[in-house]
Amino acid sequence: MAARTGDLVEPPDTGRHFSQGMEQFHHPRPVCNGSEPTPQRRRLLAGLSGQVLEIGAGDGVKLSCYPSSVDEIVLVEPDPFLRAAAKNVAARVSTPVQIVDGSLRHLPVEDASCEAVVCSLVLCCASRVHETLEEVRRILVPGGELRFYEHQRSANLVVTLAESLVSPLWSRAAGGCRPTRDTVAAIQEAGFVIESLDRFAFCHFNHVVGVARPS
Ligand SMILES: C[S@@+](CC[C@H](N)C(=O)[O-])C[C@H]1O[C@@H](n2cnc3c(N)ncnc32)[C@H](O)[C@@H]1O
Repeated sequence: MAARTGDLVEPPDTGRHFSQGMEQFHHPRPVCNGSEPTPQRRRLLAGLSGQVLEIGAGDGVKLSCYPSSVDEIVLVEPDPFLRAAAKNVAARVSTPVQIVDGSLRHLPVEDASCEAVVCSLVLCCASRVHETLEEVRRILVPGGELRFYEHQRSANLVVTLAESLVSPLWSRAAGGCRPTRDTVAAIQEAGFVIESLDRFAFCHFNHVVGVARPS
């Protein structure tokens, strides 16, 4: 894939672990089920092929779920601690993996270079989610797809109110995560057509997993 080489970063091997200190709160792995990715995460990646970019990839916990039909995976992750963790996981999978620095507003890959972009619990962290989705559109090949697994504001007003009350504290503890964001509406407003969508609850928060393509 055409990852911009000027943006490549070799992550330091910190030798630290998520179970220690406060890192687990600043860089959570909230959809892990023990040490195994959840079924929804496996579903998020099922059937992918070609060049795939995952943004805000975190510690690479999902790498083992990518199907062998994927030619190359580029993980964009701004946090050096998480890049180092992902590098350790990447060494154990057979698909080539590049791990690069980058922000959600300036993804370090060329236009029309990816068959799919994966967003997993990251659109909720984007301060300007429309700009992030514009970037996703830019780098998808024609007919490419956005795979998303995200927080989604509840349709139940009481639940939304409860989520809104805990959101400020949650957001501080969880790297800027906004669980009450209407992610599905943001995807549609950015000019994507939702092809599939499932809603489910995880850790008492509403989530969605689905596929969307630029219209
Ligand atoms: C809740 S974690 C999810 C990590 C991973 N995608 C997963 O599903 O486990 C949010 C991720 O978004 C990344 N992130 C937050 N703000 C970002 C930004 N402005 N640009 C790029 N990544 C960002 C964080 O570093 C973190 O890896």
